[in-house]
Amino acid sequence: METVVSGIRSTGNLHLGNYFGAMKNFIKMQQEYNCYFFIADYHSLTTHPNPQNLHLHVKNVLVEYLAAGIDPEKSTIYVQSDLPEIAELYLLLNMNAYLGELERCTSFKDKIRNNSENINAGLLTYPVLMAADIIIHKATKVPVGKDQEQHLEMARTFANRFNRMYDTEYFPEPHAFNFGTQLVKIPGLDGNGKMGKSEGENNAVFLADSPDQIRKKVMKAVTDAGPTEPNQVKPAIIQNLFDIMKAVSPTSNYQHFDELYNNQQIRYGDFKKQLAEDIIVFTSPIREKILEIGANTDYLKKVAKNGADKARESASKTIKEVREIIGFKSF
Ligand code: TYM
Repeated sequence: METVVSGIRSTGNLHLGNYFGAMKNFIKMQQEYNCYFFIADYHSLTTHPNPQNLHLHVKNVLVEYLAAGIDPEKSTIYVQSDLPEIAELYLLLNMNAYLGELERCTSFKDKIRNNSENINAGLLTYPVLMAADIIIHKATKVPVGKDQEQHLEMARTFANRFNRMYDTEYFPEPHAFNFGTQLVKIPGLDGNGKMGKSEGENNAVFLADSPDQIRKKVMKAVTDAGPTEPNQVKPAIIQNLFDIMKAVSPTSNYQHFDELYNNQQIRYGDFKKQLAEDIIVFTSPIREKILEIGANTDYLKKVAKNGADKARESASKTIKEVREIIGFKSF
């Protein structure tokens, strides 16, 4: 059975982008694959959270993973920092990761541009840590959004380079995966590119948002003066809202507003109202579970402990074999 590894950084609550990029098919995935779902808390240290925030965010992601349908009886769910084996594999892979290729990575270049006061080595080697996360369980499939495509390419590079270097076929090639369909990019509500946790408070709809918060955010989304001719190409700020509707709403709602747009009869107020209600219908069952699971500390403790034990079994086997391949021997 093929192995799936999926990770989400613990930097806040999860939003619709995370859901459609990585989590949508959790239930199906865990029936067909050997699945590892983890909370990337080492990765979140690049932005220097304080200890309370770090713990709170790890808890949020754990709760929201479970609320989205992960069954800890079927899958392995764990916190990255509970596996020191990942840090060891990261160190080993770093020896064969070159400065030039790391500097060329788009996400690193974006960070330099937007975050010039904190360009740390963790950001530079982020793709190496991500590769370690994936290949520590010898995964071949990695459910991610479009923004992670290049990181997956780098994970393949590091896995293949290790194999070549030691003349082995130890690590299989990991590939980005969205259950047979294209990788997705869910846009933000503010018209500025993708939905993200750190793109401003009105950009993202979180799975834990209340119906009122959702209505407020969606009604604030920027629109324009309306189409000026029939069947015109939609400008990005409008297309973004249609893209979100396509993800969350019944097809008939999407088609209805698409037709109104094409006939120049659309009223953005009605369109956004419908979009907000459709998001609420979509997120409400998840939100209810978030509230229920979040209050059950004993259950969360048990899930994290069992997950760490199961994940360490697989990770320590890999590390033992990798050490042998590299030539570490005890006297
Ligand atoms: P993070 O926390 O930024 O994102 C988690 C997942 O959500 C997807 N995603 C989106 N997909 C579509 N549209 C969006 N607007 C959107 N925003 C986020 C991301 O593609 C991702 O799948 N580096 C990873 C975390 C990670 C990881 C791993 C993932 C660390 N190690 C190993 C897989 C395997 C990240 O940026 O997460």
